[in-house]
Amino acid sequence: MEKGKKQIVMSGIRPTGFLHLGNYFGALRNYVRMQDEYECYFMVADLHSLTTHPDTKELKGHVHRVLAENIASGLDPDKAALFCQSHVRETSELYLYLNMLAYKGELEKTPTFKDKVRLQPDNVNAGLLTYPVLMAADILLHRAALVPVGKDQEQHLEIARTYANRFNHRYGDVFPEPQAFNFGQALVKVPSLDGAGKMSKSENQNATLYLADSDDLIRKKVMKAKTDSGPTEPNSVKPDYIENIFLLMNLVSEKDVIEKFESDFNNCVIRYGDMKKQLAEDMVKFIAPIREKAESIRTDEKYLKEVMEKGAEKARKSANATMEKVREHMGLVY
Ligand code: TYM
Repeated sequence: MEKGKKQIVMSGIRPTGFLHLGNYFGALRNYVRMQDEYECYFMVADLHSLTTHPDTKELKGHVHRVLAENIASGLDPDKAALFCQSHVRETSELYLYLNMLAYKGELEKTPTFKDKVRLQPDNVNAGLLTYPVLMAADILLHRAALVPVGKDQEQHLEIARTYANRFNHRYGDVFPEPQAFNFGQALVKVPSLDGAGKMSKSENQNATLYLADSDDLIRKKVMKAKTDSGPTEPNSVKPDYIENIFLLMNLVSEKDVIEKFESDFNNCVIRYGDMKKQLAEDMVKFIAPIREKAESIRTDEKYLKEVMEKGAEKARKSANATMEKVREHMGLVY
């Protein structure tokens, strides 16, 4: 890296529904922490959403919601470029070139592709198969080194590295190897409240806490989380669903509160009802200010348009510089 130059960061979120705590702790929290120290490109991945949501009636509202929730979580559009994927047309060009370096066999083996085939057997489109190629294009377009994402995106990052290396090997060095990033720690997976799987925009909605949930809905969902009658042996191993409640508490509660419940668990005197009440109140305290701020931003279309335009302009500048290099290295300059 050139001395004095900031490292480049890129990431994105699909506008396929309401954002939740998983999106916050897997992605948004890191965006906000990174925006001062790095050159950041954060986008709403509207093209990716077309692979699973071809009906675009609600797309505009969802794009606005994702932008508003990014800003309400602390993202400053004057520091980071905040934009919409389809506004940077160079993405589609790089996607095309990378498709020539992507093999059908390896794409078919991607676990996220297999999951989607199971979920939507009647719409196994080529965009779904090449989803990781488009994601690699998003990242490589800015020659990003760091990609703040949750654990579920780890394999997509590995694929992006493969394409970066394949391109560099064939045409000469253009791309750095992008790494998945979470401030000095392992990537995050925020579990769902029912102990089965992770929080998600479209599945598991009653066991997912959304940034737009009302205080009462948060309380209701948390109180329904699965527990049992408590441990009978001191210092027992926690069942998964109890471990998950502790994990959620670790995200939003004070250290001494967590320590109290840890100690109660280890001494077999834990009252899960009290623990869930505490967790619910801490979640309300955490989510309510984001929800309220997002609600006022979401309806200010003029402001959101300005943000998107400014972000896209910055992103296009970075994309153009990369694409000039790409075309030159590929020998497409005649
Ligand atoms: P998406 O929209 O599914 O999720 C957005 C971000 O939230 C993280 N995330 C989670 N983290 C922890 N626990 C969870 N339960 C959880 N659920 C979601 C995701 O890891 C992600 O960081 N393919 C991407 C969008 C994308 C992208 C990109 C990301 C398109 N191009 C380029 C990075 C770089 C996706 O579907 O994210």
